[in-house]
Amino acid sequence: MALERLHKFMARTGVASRRRAEELIAAGAVKVNGRVVTTPGAKIDPERDRVVVAGQRLKVEAPVVLMLHKPSGYLSSTADPRGRRVVTDLVGPQFGRLYPVGRLDYDATGLLLLTNDGELAQRLMHPRYQVARTYRVTLAGEVAPAVLATLGDGVELDGRPVPADVKVLKRSPDKTTLELTVREGRYHLVKRLCERLGHPVLKLKRLALGPLSLGGLPRGAWRELTPRERQELRRLMQSAPTQGAAQGK
Ligand code: URA
Repeated sequence: MALERLHKFMARTGVASRRRAEELIAAGAVKVNGRVVTTPGAKIDPERDRVVVAGQRLKVEAPVVLMLHKPSGYLSSTADPRGRRVVTDLVGPQFGRLYPVGRLDYDATGLLLLTNDGELAQRLMHPRYQVARTYRVTLAGEVAPAVLATLGDGVELDGRPVPADVKVLKRSPDKTTLELTVREGRYHLVKRLCERLGHPVLKLKRLALGPLSLGGLPRGAWRELTPRERQELRRLMQSAPTQGAAQGK
């Protein structure tokens, strides 16, 4: 069997993201065949070597990818020190440890993936791959056509423009509903963009992520991805990063 970098193997088992795995290795928390390994970039044979973290042998589980319709009032996390409800409460323990792929705000709703496949999560969220996120967003006030054009041209946030595709779904004097597609997942991105234009977000729902759409999945419900959706995700993961895209870590 081909050798594999230890931190990549760890991410595949779902114990941690690649970056977190590197931190655990550096901190001396990882043993390979009974010995602590702290060398960055160390390689192992995933078929033969025994990798142990916190007393537990790591194994590559069958990857699970679930689509959840996140309701408002849930944290996109696996635990909360303040005792708030978290998205993994909605699934229960039958799939073992699952992690949300990226985040939706506490008050936001819609499509959120949960997985034990650290590699997939990393790839989907990495800014280099520019995976599209489509939201239905309701804004305070009537958004003028010139403002929509500004949004479409790319409003600057944190010193970088955010290109967006915009479609008006509904407009009235007190609120406007848009379908907005962006290709990155910066913190509170949509809320900050709209705030910047003078129209605070009243409601935010993610309708699609890359090739996946929420469809009619009821709020609070989840389902496994279909074989076709898995194939589309695999295809996306094999595709080359977008040229000239922002380089995230
Ligand atoms: N943008 C936001 O502001 N919040 C989300 O939850 C997702 C995108």
